Amino acid sequence: MKSFSTLLYVSFCIFFVLFPNHSQSKAIYKKKSSPILINFGDSNSDTGGVLAGTGLPIGLPHGMTFFHRGTGRLGNGRLIIDFLCESLNLRLLSPYLDSLEPNFKSGVNFAVTGGMTLPQFVPFVLGVQVRQFVHFRNRSLELIAQGSKGLIDEHGYRNALYMIDIGQNDLLVALYASNLTAKPVLEKIPSFLAEIKLAVQNLYKHGARKFWIHNTGPLGCAPKELALHPHNDTDLDRIGCFKVHNDLAKDFNKGLKAICKELRSTYKDATIVYVDIYKIKYNLFAKYKSYGFTKPHKACCGYGGEPNNYNVKATCGQPGYTMCENVSQSIVWDGVHYSEAANQVVASKILTTKFSIPQIALKSLF
Ligand SMILES: *[C@@H]1O[C@H](CO)[C@@H](O)[C@H](O)[C@H]1NC(C)=O
Ligand SMILES: *[C@@H]1O[C@H](CO)[C@@H](O)[C@H](O)[C@H]1NC(C)=O
Ligand SMILES: *[C@@H]1O[C@H](CO)[C@@H](O)[C@H](O)[C@H]1NC(C)=O
Ligand SMILES: *[C@@H]1O[C@H](CO)[C@@H](O)[C@H](O)[C@H]1NC(C)=O
Repeated sequence: MKSFSTLLYVSFCIFFVLFPNHSQSKAIYKKKSSPILINFGDSNSDTGGVLAGTGLPIGLPHGMTFFHRGTGRLGNGRLIIDFLCESLNLRLLSPYLDSLEPNFKSGVNFAVTGGMTLPQFVPFVLGVQVRQFVHFRNRSLELIAQGSKGLIDEHGYRNALYMIDIGQNDLLVALYASNLTAKPVLEKIPSFLAEIKLAVQNLYKHGARKFWIHNTGPLGCAPKELALHPHNDTDLDRIGCFKVHNDLAKDFNKGLKAICKELRSTYKDATIVYVDIYKIKYNLFAKYKSYGFTKPHKACCGYGGEPNNYNVKATCGQPGYTMCENVSQSIVWDGVHYSEAANQVVASKILTTKFSIPQIALKSLF
């Protein structure tokens, strides 16, 4: 039996020695250059981290449109990062914290719902996610040296794309604490940005050379914000979004853009792509009809009906929640997180490179 399989193996090797230009050499080439994504962030890109890490049960109706089960993603289906993976023909990313049959061949996801930049050392803020990465990298290289397969190797880490999408929770927590007063939040923004800069610096120290950084979205357009905070027309902009939230998001983004520029001049051998998610998402709300959406400030899954269908007493998935007829017509799924249809539009806009600085295509980074 053993000698038979050895024989098979030998004859395969001979086959490939005789035909070196055949599929195997192609396969090796393909394997070496296959894209690897390593992601850090919050619920925007959490593919199951909070479920694995805290046990927070995120079941149906989350996931109902695509996965048909709760995966830990907050949304009815795929997230932006899932669509980016699909565009690269990659498997969807397993969370680092997933202990049950994770697959880390095409990358790993450290993002956890609720993720913030501060306070430091608290699970699972950005700094902790980066430390988890350092451990993950170190341990996988040790295991590979001992013969393990299916893990990211040195070459993989060096050529991986390191993605970061974080900051919205810092802004919201600070905004709630200040009773929606801008000034105290503005004062904190530099400390949030410093954490993102530190994350890039630490990843660079550990060999990362390609970065993909999403700015933060128009938080003031979310049904949840509109439902929670009493307001009048003067508080809103011309498309019905909270000005204070969005002005702070823009301020944060301005700082983030400047940090990316600064890091580009420091790390000449690195590629740092800054993606203007704010502009893409704001445009969804401003021109919702042209994308086939209706009632942009109304959550699909929630409670309370018009105008926002959001109530803390029965959020999406809690007893008493209601569901819209056609979730593909909603921008926002549960009051906060975007629908799969909206995420798909956002991802397709990202892929155009029109919203990136510099304008580099995702595919061309590998
Ligand atoms: C992993 O960490 C250990 C302990 O800090 C260190 O001795 C070792 O050199 C590291 N290995 C790699 C591959 O970085
Ligand atoms: C915010 O409002 C609450 C209740 O009205 C009040 O107790 C609190 O002191 C206010 N906080 C700030 C920072 O103004
Ligand atoms: C609108 O509400 C703000 C507080 O949110 C208040 O300062 C302002 O006076 C109100 N304006 C009008 C026209 O009611
Ligand atoms: C749901 O809405 C989308 C987008 O407008 C539309 O393409 C689709 O046909 C609708 N589905 C149903 C079942 O009405």
